Amino acid sequence: MFNTRDGQFDAGQIPTRYRTFEVQSLTPHIGAEVQHVDLGAPLSNEQAQDIHDAWLDWKVLVFRDQHLDRDQHKAFGRRFGRLHVHPMQHQYKGDPEILTVKTTAKSPYTAGDGWHTDVTCDPVPPLGSMLYVTETPESGGGDTLFADMYLAYELLSDPIKAFLDGLTAVHDGAIPYVGSYKSTPPEGGYPRNEHPVVTRHPGTGRKILYVNQGFTSHIVGLSRAESRAVLDMLYRHIASTPRLWCRVAWEPNTLTFWDNRCTQHHAVWDYYPHSRYGERVSILGDRRPTA
Ligand code: SIN
Repeated sequence: MFNTRDGQFDAGQIPTRYRTFEVQSLTPHIGAEVQHVDLGAPLSNEQAQDIHDAWLDWKVLVFRDQHLDRDQHKAFGRRFGRLHVHPMQHQYKGDPEILTVKTTAKSPYTAGDGWHTDVTCDPVPPLGSMLYVTETPESGGGDTLFADMYLAYELLSDPIKAFLDGLTAVHDGAIPYVGSYKSTPPEGGYPRNEHPVVTRHPGTGRKILYVNQGFTSHIVGLSRAESRAVLDMLYRHIASTPRLWCRVAWEPNTLTFWDNRCTQHHAVWDYYPHSRYGERVSILGDRRPTA
C-alpha cells in the first residue's frame, strides 16, 4: 500500500529530489526522467514509494537504459497492483498480461495512434501502464505525446467546468477495437461503460477531464448533435494546446510508466516504413472512476 499525495504542486514547483533518486523534468508539470534506478533489480519499499510519489507528481516517468525480461517487467508492474488483461487478448497468443506494441511497414495501423486513455471502456480501467520499448525506428520518430488532464480541466472556463461537472459519458471498446483495428469482438462484445466526464484522482484528490477520442462515444443526456459538439470542442482543446503535453523520445530499452487516470497519450506514427517494438504491462485500477 502506498501513501497518497494530497493537493497539488504548482507547475515548476514539483519536487525533483526524492529520497532514493532524482528526476529530470520534461516540462514544468508533466513528464520526468528518473535517474539511476535499475528496474531489473528488486526494489526496496522506499524506492517503490518514491517511484509512486514521483509518478503521482509527474504523471509520466521515463526510465532509460533498462534491461528487463518479461518476468522482471511484470514484477515491476505488480509492485503497484494486479496486472490487467487487455480486452483484445482473446485474439492473441502468448502471455495475456503482456500487450505487444509492434509496428512494421506491413502494419495496417499502429496501436494508440490518436489521443486516448487506455481501455476506458472497462468498468475499472487500468490505473497505469508501463511500456518498455526495445526497438525504435532507424529513421528517428516514433515518439509518444502525453497530455496532462488535470491541466486540461483547469484551463477550461468556469462556465464550461460548471456545465461538465455532474455529466457522465459512455466509453465503448468497439470504437477502437472494431472501428479502427477491425478486430472480431469476443463473445458478448467489447466492454462499454459509463464514467463521469470530470473525475477526481483517488491519489491526489484533484479534478480531471475524463473523456477521450479513443473510447468516448457520447455524453449521456445530451442530444447527439450537442454531445458531438461538446466532445469535439474538448478534443480540440487537448489536441491544440501544446502546453498540456510532454513528448517522450524513446531510445531502445526505455520504459515509460504513466498514470492512466490523469493523462492521455498519442503514439505518433511518423516513421513508416520503419519499425518499432515494445511490450506493455498495465495495472488494474482499484476502483471505478468517480466524480
Ligand atoms: C499505447 O499504449 O497506446 C501505445 C503507446 C505507444 O506505442 O507509444
